[in-house]
Amino acid sequence: MIFTPFDRPVRAAFVGLGRIYDLNMRAYVDNPDVEVVALVDPSEERRAQRQADWPEARTFATAAELAASDLSVDAVEALLPAPLHTDGVVELLGYGWHVNLQKPMCNDLADAQRMLDAAAANDRLLRVMENYLFYEPLRKLKATVESGEIGDVSGYHLKMVASGRGGWDVPMSSYEWQFQQMQRGRGILVFDDGWHKLATAIWLFGPIKEVRGWVGETEVVPGVQIDAPTTISWEHDSGIRGVWDITLAPDLYLRSDYYTNDERWEVTGRKGYARVNRCTGRGIQQPSLEVYVDGEMRAYHALDDDWASSFRDSGRHWLRWLHTGNGPMLWSGEEAVDVLRFALATYASSEAGGVGVDPSQVT
Ligand SMILES: NC(=O)c1ccc[n+]([C@@H]2O[C@H](COP(=O)([O-])OP(=O)(O)OC[C@H]3O[C@@H](n4cnc5c(N)ncnc54)[C@H](O)[C@@H]3O)[C@@H](O)[C@H]2O)c1
Repeated sequence: MIFTPFDRPVRAAFVGLGRIYDLNMRAYVDNPDVEVVALVDPSEERRAQRQADWPEARTFATAAELAASDLSVDAVEALLPAPLHTDGVVELLGYGWHVNLQKPMCNDLADAQRMLDAAAANDRLLRVMENYLFYEPLRKLKATVESGEIGDVSGYHLKMVASGRGGWDVPMSSYEWQFQQMQRGRGILVFDDGWHKLATAIWLFGPIKEVRGWVGETEVVPGVQIDAPTTISWEHDSGIRGVWDITLAPDLYLRSDYYTNDERWEVTGRKGYARVNRCTGRGIQQPSLEVYVDGEMRAYHALDDDWASSFRDSGRHWLRWLHTGNGPMLWSGEEAVDVLRFALATYASSEAGGVGVDPSQVT
C-alpha cells in the first residue's frame, strides 16, 4: 500500500476498554500526535469508567455504531478478547481505519491471511503491537549483545514461572475468553503470554529454522488445564540456539503491579553473559539487567523497568510512525505471522513427539 503520513494529530478510537486498556492508554496521554475521539465497548460500565480519562471523546457500544456516526476516525487501538481478533480486525479495517492490534494476532494461518487480505483490500495498515520490544531492560540487553561486549553469542535461555498469587485483579470475563482459547489448544502460557517471549527471540536473533517443543499440561481446577510444564528449544538461521522453560508455581507469591510472571532472558556469549532478571512482575529485588564479563558484574539499577512503560513506548512508536511512515513498525502484520508460525511449529513438534519443525513449513 502507499501510506501517506499524517501531518495533523491522528484521530483515534479505543475498541475494547477492559483490563489492558489501563496500560495501552498511557501512550495516548499528553501525546500531541493523537486525539482520542471515541471509546467503544458493549459494557456500559466500562464506557462510563473510561470516559473519565477522555471527557471529550464520544462513546459507542459497537464499532458499527461508531462507523455509522458522523465522527471521523483514522486509527483504532484494538483491545478485543483474542477470540474476536480476526472478525474484529477485518471489520475495523473495512471501515477504513488503521489498526493497532494486541497480541496474539490470531489462532491460525488462515485467520492471519484473512487479516492481511483485509488490510490490503482496504489499503490500511495492520500493526500487531509488541510491547516487550519496548521494555528498556530488554532493549539494553539487545544493545549489549550487539556491542560485542560479551563476545560472540553462544546461546540463550528464557524462563517463565507463572505464579498464582499477587498482582492486579483480572476480571472473570477475561478468564472466560482465555478458557475458550485453551479449549482450542491455544494456552495462556505458551500462546497468549508466550507470544511475547517468542517475539523477543525473533527480535533478538532473527529468523528461526527449527523448533522442538514439549508442551505439557497441569489441571489447576477441574476442567481447566494450564499449558505447563513446557520446554521449547529452537535454532535461528544464524545457528544460535535458544531454549525456553515454562513452569507453573500456583502458590508462589510474587509482588507485581500487573500479572504475576517471573521472567528471565539470559544471553551467553563466548566471554560473558547478559541477563534481564524480570519484566512483568517485581518479585525479586535484583537489578533488571546484569552483565558479567571477565570477572566483573555490571548491574543496571536505573533503567525504566516498569512493564507499563513498554506499553506507553510501543503505543507512542505507532502514533509517531503514523506521522513518518519510516522504520520498523514492530510489528507489521506480516512480521507478526512469523511469531504465529513459531508458536504453531511448537505445537506441531510437540504433537509429533518433539521432532524438529521448520516454522516456514507449518500449514
Ligand atoms: N500486551 C500484553 O502484554 C497483553 C496483556 C493482557 C492482554 N493483552 C491482550 O489484550 C486484549 C484484551 O485483553 P484484556 O485483558 O483487556 O481483556 P478484557 O476481557 O479485560 O477486555 C476486553 C474488553 O473488550 C470488550 N469487548 C468485547 N467484545 C467487544 C466488541 N465486539 N467491541 C468492542 N469491545 C468489545 C469487553 O467488554 C471488554 O471490556 C487481548 O487480545 C489480550 O490478549 C495483551
